[in-house]
Amino acid sequence: MTKITWKPGTLEYPLPPAMISCGTLEHPNIMTAAWTGIVNSEPPMTYVSIRSSRHSHSIIKESGEFVINLTTEQLVAAADFCGVKSGKDVNKFKEMKLTALPCSEISAPQIAESPVSLECKVKNVTTLGSHDMFLAEIVAVNVDDNYIDAGGKLCLENCKLVAYAHNAYYSLGRCLGFFGFSVCRNAMKINQRMKNVVVEVKTPKIELSKHRKPRRPLGSKAKSFGDKKFGRKNEAKSANKGKIRSRKSPMAKKSV
Ligand SMILES: Cc1cc2nc3c(=O)[nH]c(=O)nc-3n(C[C@H](O)[C@H](O)[C@H](O)COP(=O)(O)O)c2cc1C
Repeated sequence: MTKITWKPGTLEYPLPPAMISCGTLEHPNIMTAAWTGIVNSEPPMTYVSIRSSRHSHSIIKESGEFVINLTTEQLVAAADFCGVKSGKDVNKFKEMKLTALPCSEISAPQIAESPVSLECKVKNVTTLGSHDMFLAEIVAVNVDDNYIDAGGKLCLENCKLVAYAHNAYYSLGRCLGFFGFSVCRNAMKINQRMKNVVVEVKTPKIELSKHRKPRRPLGSKAKSFGDKKFGRKNEAKSANKGKIRSRKSPMAKKSV
C-alpha cells in the first residue's frame, strides 16, 4: 500500500451539516454550516466558522447568538437550500416551510422541525483566514419530546440524523458499537440491550481487567463523560431536573 501525500486541505469527514438559525423571530435566518463542532464539555462549548460574506455572519456578530439545529433525513433538502441561498435574497424559513420557535435563553429562533436545537451565546470571535470562528457556550438544549422515552432517555438513534462528507449528504447507517465497547467485558450483553445494534462485537481475547478498567455497564451510576451515555438512571434524573427540556417549555415560558 502506498499513501500519496497531497497539499494541506480540509479533508476531515464526516461532519454535521448543521442548520444555524439566527436573527429574531420577526427576521429569522438560517445558514448551513459544516465547520462546526463541540470543543469543551464543562461548560458545554461549540464553534461555528463563518465567512464574513455570509448574511448570517453580520447577524451573529451583532447579536452574539445563534442556534445549532441538527439535520435529519427529512430536513436535508432544506439544509442544502439554506447552504446555497442567502438570507439577503430569500426568507429561508418561508421558502422551506420551516417554523421559527422562540428559544428559552436567547432571542435567536430555533427550528421547530429539528429534533435537537442548541442555544448558543458567542464568547469570542477569531479571524482565521477565510472564516471567522465564533466560539460559543451552549446555554440551553431543546429536544423534541417525541424522541424522549418514558425513562427520560433521548433516543437520538431514532432521529435519522445525517452526515456530510466530501460534498455529499449521507444517512448514518447501522450502529457499530457503543462508546468504550472495545474494552468492555460485557460488550455482547450490553449491545444486545441496545436498540438497533447489530451484535457482531467479539469480546477481546486479552484479559482486559489486567490492563484497563472496563466501562460501567448500562444502568449503573454514571461517573465520567463517556459513561453518562449509558447511565439510564442518571439521564432520567437529569431530565426530571429539567436539563432536557421539551419543545413546549420555552414556548410556555416566553411569549412570541
Ligand atoms: C453542506 C454545507 C456546509 C456549509 N458550511 C459552511 C460553513 O461551515 N461556513 C460557511 O461560512 N459557509 C458554509 N456553507 C455555505 C453557506 O451555508 C451559504 O453560503 C449560505 O448561503 C449562507 O447563508 P446566508 O447568506 O443567509 O448567511 C455551507 C454550505 C453547505 C451546503
